[in-house]
Amino acid sequence: MFNKLISCLLLAILLSSASISQAAADQRPEQIEQQISKLLTEMTLAEKIGQMALVNIGATKVPAATQQDIRDGKVGSILNEVDVNKVNALQRLAVEESRMGIPLLVGRDVIHGFKTIFPLPLGQAASWNPKLVEQAARISALEAAKSGVNWTFAPMIDISRDPRWGRIAETLGEDPYLSSVLGTAMIRGFQGSDLADKGSIAASAKHLAGYGAAESGLDYNSVDMSEQKLRNVYLPPFKAAAEAGVASIMTSFNDLNGIPSTGNEHLLKQILRREWEYPGFVVSDWQSVGQLTMHGFTTNDKEAAYEAANAGVDMEMAGTMYADNLKLLIEEDRISLQQIDSMVANILRIKIQLGLFNNPYTKASDFPELVNAEHLQAAKVSAMQSVVLLKNSHHTLPLDKHQISSLAVIGPMADDPYEQLGTWIFDGDPLHSQTPLMALKKHAGDGIQLRYAKGLQTTRTKNRDGFAEAVRIASQSDVVIMFMGEESILSGEAHSRADIDLPGYQQQLISEIAATGKPVILVVMAGRPLTIEQPANSVAAILYAWHPGTMGGPAIADLLFGVESPSGKLPVTFPRMVGQIPIYYARKNTGKPATDETVVHIDDIEVRAKQTSFGMTSFYLDAGHRPLYPFGYGLSYSEFSYDNIQTSTKQLKLGETIQITAELTNTGETEAEEVAQLYIRDLVGNITRPIKELKGFIKIRLKPGETQIINFQLHTDDLAFYNRKMELAAEPGAFYAWIGGSSEATLKTEFHITK
Ligand code: NOJ
Repeated sequence: MFNKLISCLLLAILLSSASISQAAADQRPEQIEQQISKLLTEMTLAEKIGQMALVNIGATKVPAATQQDIRDGKVGSILNEVDVNKVNALQRLAVEESRMGIPLLVGRDVIHGFKTIFPLPLGQAASWNPKLVEQAARISALEAAKSGVNWTFAPMIDISRDPRWGRIAETLGEDPYLSSVLGTAMIRGFQGSDLADKGSIAASAKHLAGYGAAESGLDYNSVDMSEQKLRNVYLPPFKAAAEAGVASIMTSFNDLNGIPSTGNEHLLKQILRREWEYPGFVVSDWQSVGQLTMHGFTTNDKEAAYEAANAGVDMEMAGTMYADNLKLLIEEDRISLQQIDSMVANILRIKIQLGLFNNPYTKASDFPELVNAEHLQAAKVSAMQSVVLLKNSHHTLPLDKHQISSLAVIGPMADDPYEQLGTWIFDGDPLHSQTPLMALKKHAGDGIQLRYAKGLQTTRTKNRDGFAEAVRIASQSDVVIMFMGEESILSGEAHSRADIDLPGYQQQLISEIAATGKPVILVVMAGRPLTIEQPANSVAAILYAWHPGTMGGPAIADLLFGVESPSGKLPVTFPRMVGQIPIYYARKNTGKPATDETVVHIDDIEVRAKQTSFGMTSFYLDAGHRPLYPFGYGLSYSEFSYDNIQTSTKQLKLGETIQITAELTNTGETEAEEVAQLYIRDLVGNITRPIKELKGFIKIRLKPGETQIINFQLHTDDLAFYNRKMELAAEPGAFYAWIGGSSEATLKTEFHITK
């Protein structure tokens, strides 16, 4: 009996290792290409066009017609179905009832979490912590995969320098380097080391290209930018994503230099396929193929299908331009069968890599529980690291439990489980949210009397009905914490704002509470940088928490009480006034750069002053030349000093590497994390160069008094840029390098590159 058991076990092991090695062999590139060729030979044209259709489900009951379309091979991918039983049932139609048995891609916007919600992508970017960003994506992938989802429409790596744009919330900020590092971390998290692994889902880098530069921050608006700016600023995160093996790339809604992205051959054929040799597939954004006609780029649906297919859009999202017109276009010889085959091949390649042909169904019990303790802990750490301490006068923070006996908690965002989740949380459930009020009550315990008043019903409320109660509890308390900001719905897609002050009567409420003379700590939860100069001047401390997700409450409360020090740094510049937008640190010097000395304030100009250009430099009479808070900025409960910047050489040749080091010391009294940042300036270029560019960063934890050497390696290729001739090349010449805690770092050195 025992022997029989052993031999059964051995046989099982042998069989499973045989199937593993068979599965691995199936995934070899040449095997994959063979499988694709075989499928293409057997598929009808209608089935090929079916693979190019991404169909929205999003209904409680999947219509019979859609089910039949799947059986008929007219649907290659679906989106917006997350009930695992329904997903499996739809997969079954594709795999077992369609002629070719090709499994479906099942897409969903898993943008900053599935059920466990992490901070907004912009918030996660503020952590400057690629490991945490990767972990958040991995957990999101695991949770989504439990529902049968095998493809997400993330990361969004559009560079955005305009906080009016509601979708800045979904981005990783204003900087190409930071977005590249964090975007690829997200891709690693979603896709894992092997797309076929359980819990790996295909990612989609979006939106190619320029979407974040929509004119005047207005969503879907046109983008007109130089090729140099496109290639030097807006495309690098996409190139990095392509190099990191992102499974798909989504086009953008905007027109770029007069050509809508979804019909843009230059972007999709020349740059993506020819120059970057991208092997994944390209998906349109929602109905953006049909919108080519709305743009005035095509005359009708058929021409729209032609332009998109000709440009290289392999799959159409939520539209029927391809389904209705591709066959005709082939019959007319305007699109070749060969072209269709190569587009379908791009899609099949990812389906094979995902292991869907071997394993199309999802067994939810194979996956960990949703929103389990480990996921919540990760969401808490991510939220904690994403919060940026913008101001901390007289060390108001952290709060000392022994020093205060009463606390007033005020504001519409203090106890709103839904609003703290932020935009794009289709599957997030506020029932899991832990709010700041809940967490602060735990911290306060019996020792601190906590009083709570909303003050305003929502962030948009425009009446003073709740003011008196809020002022009363503030006056009775030692310290006031105000939770203000923007509700979730005020940022995200199609939610641009022309005025980015705190909405409603929030500024008035802050002024009245500040007038009590009590120390006020302002916690802002928002999907974008808001113009908070006025409130910033009247409060003692500010924590900028973005929309922090499910565990925002405990994360913020721990920071307020000093369990951990804030360590977030801004991934985007904060303007003083909306008129300064676009504002970003990596600007050009201009021929007339402003300095603090040349700036004149409007109030200081004499009446009937003689006509003059006030020092002839580049500044605003009413806003000066500085932002409210610069990129990379963020305070800590400790203090850090940077000293002794050194380079391994003062002269290096093209093709060589330089090391740039500095000493970082925690000079404060708290153990804390700091993000050391390396910036460079290429002093003279074939085209003008930014005054500073981020080229490296590292987040490290230091004990009080501890010093560490920060070491950055820079290859001359890291200094390459697209020049006048549109060649990517580093140039000989002089460079400055700075290491410090923000883009206003002052510790500086110099080096030269020679030929
Ligand atoms: C439109 C959005 O622009 C895109 O980012 C998103 O992934 C799709 N809709 C699918 O929901």
